[in-house]
Amino acid sequence: MIRLSLSLLSLFGAAAAAYQPLLVQSEPQVIFKDDVKVPVTLGVMSRCPDALLCESVFDHVLKRVANKVDLSLTFIGTPNASEPNFGVTCMHGPEECAGNVQELCVMKYAPAEHFWEFVQCQNYQGREKIGLPETALQCANSAKIDWEGSGAGTCTGLDGSGKAAEGVQLLQDSVKATRELGIQKSCTIMINGKQVCIHDGTWKQCENGHSVHDFVRQINEEYRKLNSETDGDDD
Ligand SMILES: *[C@@H]1O[C@H](CO)[C@@H](O)[C@H](O)[C@H]1NC(C)=O
Repeated sequence: MIRLSLSLLSLFGAAAAAYQPLLVQSEPQVIFKDDVKVPVTLGVMSRCPDALLCESVFDHVLKRVANKVDLSLTFIGTPNASEPNFGVTCMHGPEECAGNVQELCVMKYAPAEHFWEFVQCQNYQGREKIGLPETALQCANSAKIDWEGSGAGTCTGLDGSGKAAEGVQLLQDSVKATRELGIQKSCTIMINGKQVCIHDGTWKQCENGHSVHDFVRQINEEYRKLNSETDGDDD
């Protein structure tokens, strides 16, 4: 047995090391009928390194609890009437504003899993490509988003510019909503309305941990709370 465990460990090597917290968790996944999903909100800026890191961590989180979560992005920026295209100043420049608009439009019009694939695709291109029209079009294609038919294209600008009226309005609304949530740093993680963690250079204010395992556990806890009232009540 010992020999087997050791050879398994060496077989899986780096993967086992990286995913160790996941391997030891064996909790059964209870899904309720007509369940309430746990709102998870990431306060981000599309070209921010901290945002890319959080979104990569949550890619792993979603692999465990995708069907329990309602994930959304909310964007950090400064309302600014002097900004010609967006009416918002984005810390990493107008390309970031465009990237934010692209992600907001896809979030609004594409199915959740396609939206997430779109964000991961943008991030995978590298920060300096996020927000470029060709990146948006390419990622819409690879995430199997019907650019013209779904509404995402019209919202963003069919050319991918991020400058169409609807998308710009979504950006301005998102920036306002972010402020109302009290979010100032990218990336800020909120689970079921509570700020649970920030990554700003390093992890900060993460009382209940900041590993994939920690976020999965917190989501499972909130899911149980949100759905316990009806547990066993209806036929
Ligand atoms: C508002 O936008 C203008 C035009 O881009 C810029 O020069 C100015 O610095 C911005 N103000 C703030 C507070 O970001």
